[in-house]
Amino acid sequence: MSKQPIGIFDSGVGGLSIFKVIKQHLPNENLLYFADSQYAPYGELDEKILKQRCLFIADFFIQKNAKAMVVACNTATALMAEWLRAEYDIPIIAIEPAIKPAAQITTTNTIGVFATQHTLNSERYRSLLKRFAKDKTIYQSACEGFVEQVEKGELDSLRTIGLIEQYLLPMLDNNIDTLVLGCTHYPFLSETIKLVAGQHPLTIIDNANAVSLQATRVLTELGLLNLHAHESDAFFSSSNSKTLPSVFSDLLLKNTHVNYIAD
Ligand code: DGL
Repeated sequence: MSKQPIGIFDSGVGGLSIFKVIKQHLPNENLLYFADSQYAPYGELDEKILKQRCLFIADFFIQKNAKAMVVACNTATALMAEWLRAEYDIPIIAIEPAIKPAAQITTTNTIGVFATQHTLNSERYRSLLKRFAKDKTIYQSACEGFVEQVEKGELDSLRTIGLIEQYLLPMLDNNIDTLVLGCTHYPFLSETIKLVAGQHPLTIIDNANAVSLQATRVLTELGLLNLHAHESDAFFSSSNSKTLPSVFSDLLLKNTHVNYIAD
């Protein structure tokens, strides 16, 4: 069973930020990545449709014989992680916003959170704040437009810079010193966010490393780590957009073939 693949999914290309870290930590693993680009963004998608999409993707991974699944999407975790765990027998590792480390790092006790509207509205996110950041001041923003910019591969265009300024500058005025990127698309904007922050001291964090370490721990405990050299990773999308492979290739820094999966 250890030679079976690990399925990783997101609404689109955002979860590639998680894919990259998992690949670094677990180079032997055979990774399957599913971008649900036809339905992106998930941030305000009708919950019933989101559930159907999670079901479709999880079934796809099961058909491909996946030994584990990584929810590389904070929004899907916030709304569907518990349900997915109840529904499927394979281990499910799910990302959520890095509130806990942010609360440990901040010296101004003031944290900014960028995430989608669904994530910010969720019970799960509220519980994270209650457990780890009760005594912190939080400024949060559903950064409308960020996901679309990353999906287009526009990581530092004028429009992207303008959007970042719109959401970040008011937070900096409010003295945040730590910014949580609570959506897996946003790490691809980190460099541009730093540029916009300029001289402001700002620590930018996300949970990519944590979720990858958690995947490693779970697979190790279950004896499912692949100790042999892996075959090859594969990439899938629910969209057959002609520009998608080049966005994948740019974000992964290598030529990438994307297989179209019709729903
Ligand atoms: N990348 C996802 C997340 O982490 C979904 C963003 C979206 O599609 O709105 O929340």
